[in-house]
Amino acid sequence: MIPMADTTLAEPEIEAALRVLRSGQLRQGAECDRFEKAFADRVGARHAVTCANGSAALHLAYAAVFEPGDEILMPSFSFFATASMALQTGLVPVLCDVDPRTYLIDLDDAARRLTPRTRGIVPVHLFGASCPVDAIESFAAQHDLRIVWDAAQSMGTRFNGRDIGSFGSCVCYSFYPTKNLFVGEGGMVTSPDPELDRKMRYLRTHGQTAKYVHTMIGWNYRMTDVEAAIGCAQLERLETMLAQRRENAAQLTAGLKGLPGLQLPTEPAGSESSWHQYSVVVDEHEMGFGRDALAERLTKRGVATAVHYPRGIHQQPVIREQVGEVSLPVTERLTETILALPVHHGLGEAEIGLVIRAVHEAVVGHGP
Ligand SMILES: Cc1ncc(COP(=O)(O)O)c(C=O)c1O
Repeated sequence: MIPMADTTLAEPEIEAALRVLRSGQLRQGAECDRFEKAFADRVGARHAVTCANGSAALHLAYAAVFEPGDEILMPSFSFFATASMALQTGLVPVLCDVDPRTYLIDLDDAARRLTPRTRGIVPVHLFGASCPVDAIESFAAQHDLRIVWDAAQSMGTRFNGRDIGSFGSCVCYSFYPTKNLFVGEGGMVTSPDPELDRKMRYLRTHGQTAKYVHTMIGWNYRMTDVEAAIGCAQLERLETMLAQRRENAAQLTAGLKGLPGLQLPTEPAGSESSWHQYSVVVDEHEMGFGRDALAERLTKRGVATAVHYPRGIHQQPVIREQVGEVSLPVTERLTETILALPVHHGLGEAEIGLVIRAVHEAVVGHGP
């Protein structure tokens, strides 16, 4: 079976973890400092703060940037944590629809949801594609909104030639095992602002501003030095892993073009995706069968697939309860038609060739 992810660590990463384990320095320490510096250098950010995971990264950024009661625009087509961490912070997530081709937040829909209480926007760089950063920055400036970027899936993505981690105000990452950079559990927030960075560092350790002096309510969101050491070592092969993802995506696009009823992923102008996922959309009428039948046919041919996401955030029971009902037709349609194909760094030309052949066989009954 061609899998959806490769979560094996390389030897230097295992060595780095062992070195820290042998040293007995398990908690957040020098390795976390080193990872923060190397990461900030890599993405071109002024500051970077490590934390426990991508959800914690969002929580720290939301708490540092926004005030309780603020309404925050965000796409419904994302992972649950984009919204749930806003609720944890006392914010009001205002769920917006997305573009049917890029799957990214639809600014026209967001504009319709502005109220006098809207204070921010959380664009999600979904599946490794970059949101149109320039359009979002002008939208935010026009409506006096602060931005927190959810880049959990997009380590290594660029917009107009610039790494997305270098844009203000906060950019949040996850290092969960399926992500572009992975350490186990881990997260990072980059920012250009020393005040924001300092506040997130306090919040990360229970709002402690001096030993046993707590001046704000925070959490224990520290990363361990073992994970940071893996992260530092893995940064060394990040470019190679990203190049492989980009090659795989290009091969998939060339090989799958023109199949009836299969919409291939599209990036906004200026985006250079890091291809965390390669998600296609199935037009049931044109293909003759739906997304789930395609997934089944691919499984039978030895190709794993995944559905990100089978529900919009606005369709989650607890969100309905806390935020109320909203109708987002594009998101709802995508939840029924989208399918992710394997694209990760652990696959090469031969495996991607097999994926392409399997999709052709599944859709038109024979290979390309
Ligand atoms: C878009 C998005 N935001 C936030 C997160 C949360 O990251 P973590 O799982 O590391 O807490 C994820 C993880 O899947 C994600 O995909």
